[in-house]
Amino acid sequence: MQEKLKTIESEALEQLALAKSLAELDNIRVKYLGKKGVLTDILKGMKDVPPEERPIIGQLANKIKDTLSTELDKAIEAMKVKEYSAKLASEFIDITLPGRRHITGKKHPLTQITEEIVEIFKGMGFQVADGPEVEIDYYNFDALNMPEHHPARDERDSMYIKDGVLLRTETSAVQIRVMERQKPPVRVIVPGKVYRRDDDLRHSPMFQQVEGLMVDEHIRFSDLKGVLVSFIQQMFGKGTKYRFMPDFFPFTEPSAQVHIGCAVCKGSGCKTCSNTGWLEILGSGSVDPEVFKAVGYDPEKYTGFAFGMGIERVAMLIYGIDNIRLFFENDLRFLQQF
Ligand code: DAH
Repeated sequence: MQEKLKTIESEALEQLALAKSLAELDNIRVKYLGKKGVLTDILKGMKDVPPEERPIIGQLANKIKDTLSTELDKAIEAMKVKEYSAKLASEFIDITLPGRRHITGKKHPLTQITEEIVEIFKGMGFQVADGPEVEIDYYNFDALNMPEHHPARDERDSMYIKDGVLLRTETSAVQIRVMERQKPPVRVIVPGKVYRRDDDLRHSPMFQQVEGLMVDEHIRFSDLKGVLVSFIQQMFGKGTKYRFMPDFFPFTEPSAQVHIGCAVCKGSGCKTCSNTGWLEILGSGSVDPEVFKAVGYDPEKYTGFAFGMGIERVAMLIYGIDNIRLFFENDLRFLQQF
């Protein structure tokens, strides 16, 4: 019996030494010291031991029980410390490591240019207006004084959705909508998308314009010139050269296209400006009395001016880009440069 007890003790101590977790230690406690444990069993069976041996066996069994529970307590304490430091180590954050860089999005270069243009005109008292991209003939052509057989109405140039309904070909259509809505004074700019059947290095079937319209009593051509020259200086720089050239638009009379000195060659002539030293940036003019009649303004009382500018065109000049498609391909290597 004494032999058996000693074996149990050394077996238990050996298992204690090998235990790898608190759970394993608990299993050992249950196995040896629990209610149905090995030692408990032996102590319960003392009545079968011959009376003269009982004190010795009893003493031994109790001693082993004490040893085991002391050792178990020690092992549990040690295991707790070990598991805690393992947990700390696994959750350790090295705050000295460099951070991971996130790629942040930016505004598209055309959005940036549009916002810049809009800000400049806001500074001169213009308000932003808009209108539908799907437009009817009346606003896109008739009310803008375009004769019925004007070539721009041709299906080869415009994108029709059905008879009389098309994707607007110019933001000028919004001039009419604005004037129908309000009485003078009018001072609006209209940034927006327009659509034409055009597709090459400089033209895209969808592009953007900013329309401008100012109407009141006593608005003169010199007001148009003052506003546009101030815009040119703010957008392209104070010393930028400019010129106003005669042109024709059905909705303005007289009309002018505005050129600025080519920023690429500084006027000496290059590919960008087709060797002229000048670049056209917009069309403009005094509002034609026919347009006022269409919206019910009295042409004897009111005068005004209008202009229309291609946003991609301005962006290409400012950034020195010669292929309009770069704006729409969304190649990050291109977009990240702005
Ligand atoms: N709508 C013209 C175009 O798309 C640009 C334009 C010219 C707008 C003269 C105007 C203007 O308001 O007065 O080519």
